Amino acid sequence: MTETPKNTKKLYVKTYGCQMNVYDSERMVEALGGQGYEETKTPDDADMILLNTCHIREKAAEKVYSELGRFKGLKAANPDLKIGVAGCVAQAEGEEIIRRQPMVDLVVGPQSYHRLPAMEQAVGEGRKALDTEFPDDDKFDTLRKRAKTKRGPTAFLTVQEGCDKFCAFCVVPYTRGAEVSRPADRIIREAQELVEAGVKEITLLGQNVNAYHGHDGGLAGLIWALDKVDGLERIRFTTSHPNDMDDALIEAHGTCDKLMPYLHLPVQSGSNSILKAMNRKHTRDEYFRLIERIRAARPDLLLSGDFIVGFPGETEADFEDTMDLIREVHYGQAYSFKYSTRPGTPAAEKPQLPDDVMDDRLQRLQTLLRDQQRATQDAMVGRTVKVLFEKAGREAGQMIGKSEYLHAVFAPCEDVAVGDLREVEVTTSATNSLGGRLV
Ligand code: SAH
Ligand code: SF4
Ligand code: F3S
Repeated sequence: MTETPKNTKKLYVKTYGCQMNVYDSERMVEALGGQGYEETKTPDDADMILLNTCHIREKAAEKVYSELGRFKGLKAANPDLKIGVAGCVAQAEGEEIIRRQPMVDLVVGPQSYHRLPAMEQAVGEGRKALDTEFPDDDKFDTLRKRAKTKRGPTAFLTVQEGCDKFCAFCVVPYTRGAEVSRPADRIIREAQELVEAGVKEITLLGQNVNAYHGHDGGLAGLIWALDKVDGLERIRFTTSHPNDMDDALIEAHGTCDKLMPYLHLPVQSGSNSILKAMNRKHTRDEYFRLIERIRAARPDLLLSGDFIVGFPGETEADFEDTMDLIREVHYGQAYSFKYSTRPGTPAAEKPQLPDDVMDDRLQRLQTLLRDQQRATQDAMVGRTVKVLFEKAGREAGQMIGKSEYLHAVFAPCEDVAVGDLREVEVTTSATNSLGGRLV
């Protein structure tokens, strides 16, 4: 019989990028728990450091190398310190990471985390460990079961990974591989375990979560199955592609009480010619019609999006089309980025726009988006929302939680505990949060 070793070694994990990396980091900590590791919040006393990286934009990837440089002193002081790089940079750069930073011991791609314990052992025996394959075995199946320790009220749950869409600017299809859906029964079991550990709200994750096909009826089918999990109060999902918003999913927004009225539905650009060049496979009008149908199903839904400015070939008129789309749709929340050339993607071959043009467009776009976000928030004042309380606020006597619409809400905390769902009347609106009083 193999016994789990006593947790004596310390593991420091730093996570970059999307929520899927947040989820993966948790699972890696659990996987290495079997090797006797327990998580620490600082690299200083760590026996192992893992960077879970993101390759989506140039800056994100460069950060990894500068962060690794910072660990040189720690490695010099403790030659037994193991340093690993996981995530999308690991997948994209592979061995190159060890060439550039020879103190790195281990490089592991996102599909191989279940092999971490064996890799850690190899490093312990003085070898370098590299695994950036896309193995056939399901990493989630082979990973240790999620720890049964008490958790906070919200959790991520990856249901789908990879992407077959090949948008012309994006590295995800190369770093995460082809689209794969996890079987529904495993997801439901994991959700039940999370609920038993104190979770009330689950956010289903996937690079293209609404392309999920591991249950009859796709993502909507899975949501209805999770709707039956007792004790689970709220369901969210992210990130969706407009072309995968099917009728059943739109309808679920109107009929499933546990599904929250918030939808992240990136469009990237409002110009038809740029949408085409990006290989997004839909027009602006199709996006408008889709938004109409979603809002017909759930009129109070808060819409969020992603935008890229300065995609190769974007003219001022194309950019104005994006501004116009934003005015037409009105977003309660959004993320926007300057186009970043990613080696190996089709758009990288095309002539780039000057940086000052991109900077100027990003600034105008963000001003508009900020105004819309603020207007959406201000319009909440006077309304009553339901808040899932997550932690104590910074001021004494305050708790902070999230509304249905994912707004951060502060309220006085008399007899409120973490994990409580309470009605709050919104009384104030600040830049990134709302304030209110318990009803
Ligand atoms: N699967 C999601 C997005 C994944 S990446 C979707 O289809 O929308 C998250 C966001 O990063 C994208 O929505 C896009 O806005 C941005 N992004 C991706 N590649 C980029 C690049 N090369 N340059 C700038 N932004 C990029
Ligand atoms: Fe990237 Fe496009 Fe896939 Fe989203 S849909 S992950 S932007 S290729
Ligand atoms: Fe980044 Fe990989 Fe996520 S590139 S955004 S960590 S899928």
